[in-house]
Amino acid sequence: MADDQVKQDVRRFYDQIGWQTESDGFYQNARYEDLRPVSASYIYKCHMRVNRHLIRPGHFLLDAGSGPIQYPAYLTYGEEFAYRLCVDISFLAMKEARKRLGNKGLYVVADVANMPFISGVIDGLVSLHTLHHLPLAEQRKAYNEFDRLLAHGKVAVIVNGWTESRLMKRWAWLQRIMESAGAKISSSRRKNSERSAEEFPKSKPENGPSGKNKPQDKKVTGTFIEKLDAQWLRRELAENDIQILVWRSVSVRFLRAVIHSVLAGKLLLALLYMLEEKYPSYFGVNGQYPLVVFHKSESMDNR
Ligand SMILES: C[S@@+](CC[C@H](N)C(=O)[O-])C[C@H]1O[C@@H](n2cnc3c(N)ncnc32)[C@H](O)[C@@H]1O
Repeated sequence: MADDQVKQDVRRFYDQIGWQTESDGFYQNARYEDLRPVSASYIYKCHMRVNRHLIRPGHFLLDAGSGPIQYPAYLTYGEEFAYRLCVDISFLAMKEARKRLGNKGLYVVADVANMPFISGVIDGLVSLHTLHHLPLAEQRKAYNEFDRLLAHGKVAVIVNGWTESRLMKRWAWLQRIMESAGAKISSSRRKNSERSAEEFPKSKPENGPSGKNKPQDKKVTGTFIEKLDAQWLRRELAENDIQILVWRSVSVRFLRAVIHSVLAGKLLLALLYMLEEKYPSYFGVNGQYPLVVFHKSESMDNR
């Protein structure tokens, strides 16, 4: 598919599906996150890792592919910057972001691989879960843009998933066992509730889960995704100063399958977080989601 076509498809997806609010009050996109209370603290702390690399204070923080700034932790990235310059290919994303940031935000519908700003004006840059929507050559161009826009001595913090995580592959057996146990438990729960509904028909709620107000499952098709691996990144950015650290080492699928409050889920995640803190490079390269710290290159400074 041509690059322009890819981008149009991605924009249509986010305008029509990804940033539409569902009946539970969350964006459709939030269904790709684990929003259960058992994982909340771990997920929040992982979100906050971005903050430790941003150089503050500053004038402009560029958020490349900002979406609507959907999680409260995302608001903290803009602290001590005068403005948060949100760039996104989706118009709806920008409209929604304005609801959260108001006058602190500047909103530009544009492509992160080709941004309409002059060089060297950005004091900090974040980009989360966006570059994987671009073909690899365009991802490379986006990094060039980050380099061009950053001011001397400043950094970008980029979060994306690897195509394949060695760690997740190693633990796939556990995920499979837990998924099949989970499927058995929910099927037996369903049977029990159907049985009690037959035995006590009056107790069945009129508009409850099986009634006419049951939320309808929308058919959602995803959009273009091109992930990558640490080798590609290191090769392509060989001339840049980058560090690959951990953002979050486990996938959402793994969290949902394995982490449960009755199985000491909070404790397990606290231990995992401690390990990630101790070995950030190992978990960054081998886990599911790396956090890339990208330093403005010297050569760009000299142009
Ligand atoms: C998965 S969402 C992530 C949004 C936000 N960063 C977050 O973490 O919640 C990906 C976002 O990237 C935007 N996007 C995808 N391709 C883009 C491109 N080429 N230029 C600008 N934005 C793009 C999408 O419109 C969408 O808002």
